[in-house]
Amino acid sequence: MTNRTFTMLKPDSVEKGNVGAILEKINASGFRIVAMKLTHMTRRDAEAFYAIHKERPFFGELVEYMTRGPVVAAILEKDNAVEDFRALIGATNPAEAAEGTIRKLYASSIGENAVHGSDSDENAAIEGAFHFSSREQF
Ligand code: RTP
Ligand code: MG
Repeated sequence: MTNRTFTMLKPDSVEKGNVGAILEKINASGFRIVAMKLTHMTRRDAEAFYAIHKERPFFGELVEYMTRGPVVAAILEKDNAVEDFRALIGATNPAEAAEGTIRKLYASSIGENAVHGSDSDENAAIEGAFHFSSREQF
């Protein structure tokens, strides 16, 4: 499924009321929503989802942040979805993100950076399946 990616609008985006604006930008950029829900990750969910970072110094903070409130999880479809979505969200650190990107517009720091985007086709499939069964994907 090389034309799909996975995203989460992180707790800060939900808290600040930025979900509508971010979804509008995602749609305007040509992504089709294949699946979407508001969901609250448990500590175990977040530790599993971000397991690749478990040895990093920011792991504890990352788990606290990602579990402090609900997120909007979604699977998105577009040609070249993974790469194009990473371009749309911008650099991890909003201070380094390009003008007009979602993180430039809505992220407050490198830790609280508004959105997640899968970094490979393989991870997009794994992350999509983490949150959605096949019958929730349209
Ligand atoms: P994501 O996986 O959420 O799309 O973010 P990313 O690829 O741009 O960045 P990644 O290196 O995968 O880091 C995952 C998330 O961990 C938090 N982080 N905090 N305090 C820090 O130095 C730091 N570095 C990363 C961010 O929430 C980042 O998105
Ligand atoms: Mg990442």
